[in-house]
Amino acid sequence: MSGAPVNIAILFSGHGSNLQALSHHIARDDVPARLVMAISNRPAARGIDFCADANIPCEIIDHTGFESRDAFDAKLDETLRAAGIDLICCAGFMRLLTEDFVNNWRDRLINIHPSLLPKYKGLDTHTRALEAGDREHGCTVHYMRPEMDDGPIIVQKTVPVLPDDTPDTLAARVLEQEHIAYPEALDTVLIKMAGT
Ligand code: GRF
Repeated sequence: MSGAPVNIAILFSGHGSNLQALSHHIARDDVPARLVMAISNRPAARGIDFCADANIPCEIIDHTGFESRDAFDAKLDETLRAAGIDLICCAGFMRLLTEDFVNNWRDRLINIHPSLLPKYKGLDTHTRALEAGDREHGCTVHYMRPEMDDGPIIVQKTVPVLPDDTPDTLAARVLEQEHIAYPEALDTVLIKMAGT
């Protein structure tokens, strides 16, 4: 894949702040990639409005319209391949992907998770860190593997946990770092893909 820009799709389910951070980064001339499309599994996702304003093609594949996880993933796979996608970035994408899908996109499928993996896989990571009395917390960008929130770590960013933190104040501090971590991780992945 030397020379041609890497075709990227970003998957999201909600606000899309990581989608925004990544799209701004990919738009830089010195980033050898192009954002071909975004995909949301939720028709009400706020990130859809951002895509419209930013002229980013956005497909909505509503998971509630499918009989099974396999059927949803088959439609997702078909959409991505039809668009010639080389790399998938999950950015606040709140769906578990099937083992077949993850294996078919091995090392071309990355995700951001709001904890210092392998700590706190799953949901409510900020609450769990506070309840554990952790002095630090953070986010992780990683290659996806079939097991949830598992896979080789690409970038991690750490933040302090402050005595008066609530889940919301801690989440906000982590989110700021997510917007730094994901572009950094993407640059690393693009270098690796250029070498293969
Ligand atoms: C972020 O903490 C992300 O790590 C998690 O969902 C939160 C919102 O992400 N998966 P975004 O603003 O929708 O990118």
